Amino acid sequence: MRHLISPLDFSVEELDKLLDLANDIEKNPDKYAKACDRKKIATCFYEPSTRTRLSFEAAMLNLGGSVLGFAGADSSSAAKGESVSDTIRVISSYADICAIRHPKEGAALVAASKSTIPVINAGDGGHQHPTQTLTDLLTIRSLKGRLDNITIGLCGDLKFGRTVHSLIHALVRYENVKFVLISPEELRVPEYIREDVLKAKGIEYKEVERLEDAIGELDALYMTRVQRERFFNEEDYIRLKDFYVLNKEKLELAKDDMLILHPLPRVNEIAVEVDDDPRAVYFKQAQYGVYVRMALILTLLEIEV
Ligand code: CP
Repeated sequence: MRHLISPLDFSVEELDKLLDLANDIEKNPDKYAKACDRKKIATCFYEPSTRTRLSFEAAMLNLGGSVLGFAGADSSSAAKGESVSDTIRVISSYADICAIRHPKEGAALVAASKSTIPVINAGDGGHQHPTQTLTDLLTIRSLKGRLDNITIGLCGDLKFGRTVHSLIHALVRYENVKFVLISPEELRVPEYIREDVLKAKGIEYKEVERLEDAIGELDALYMTRVQRERFFNEEDYIRLKDFYVLNKEKLELAKDDMLILHPLPRVNEIAVEVDDDPRAVYFKQAQYGVYVRMALILTLLEIEV
């Protein structure tokens, strides 16, 4: 039995296969419409979510399966003090696969250690968000045609943004990927990622504060929201929340084929006027999230169509 806790749980070859499957699902949805007949996914979300939870549920429904779960700690027995370990033991007898989001780093790993069904990390605190990474990889590969030989800018809250942490871990495994890390000093990418991932693997990267200084060299720009829920005080959040706003004026400095990605939700960091720009692919990205989660469910349940 396999789980997905970190983007590194799949080799590059396995990832390629998963993304190929997602592309086939997009092209031939009817072929997969009954693949998960009588299978159930439990979505156990201890933190708010729109895309991740609903795309997992849409994915299982598209595969002919069913869904159960909870959308907040308050509506589960966590509110009475039940541990993640106990909860997953029980869920293991109710469902065939489980997607879990939890505010504590490592919660999905704990769940996997006690589970008898595949566990998918749907976000653990400020740590990792591997299925967002699968979504991001599918989006870049489908729209750019490759995952190697790209310069990607990661902009915004690189300290608390778990989507960024997972994406860096995944992309360093491809040839000639260069990173431009764009953040204010307080929201720089954590030291362990700089030292143990980027420097240790000899990856080319630079850190800049101004988006305008970097945007012209990027093949893809990954914008992120400042993560209010991870700040220790509101004053810092208010000071930093509008540090970056991508607007039409800044986009004039970008390449004509630069992809603009965002895991969403967006707050102010991308002006609404950008949405109609052909380079803005963040809503398409959310759609790719369904295909890739369908592919993931099939892969972890070892269902071949
Ligand atoms: N991208 C993402 O994780 O969105 P949600 O928080 O809405 O699930």
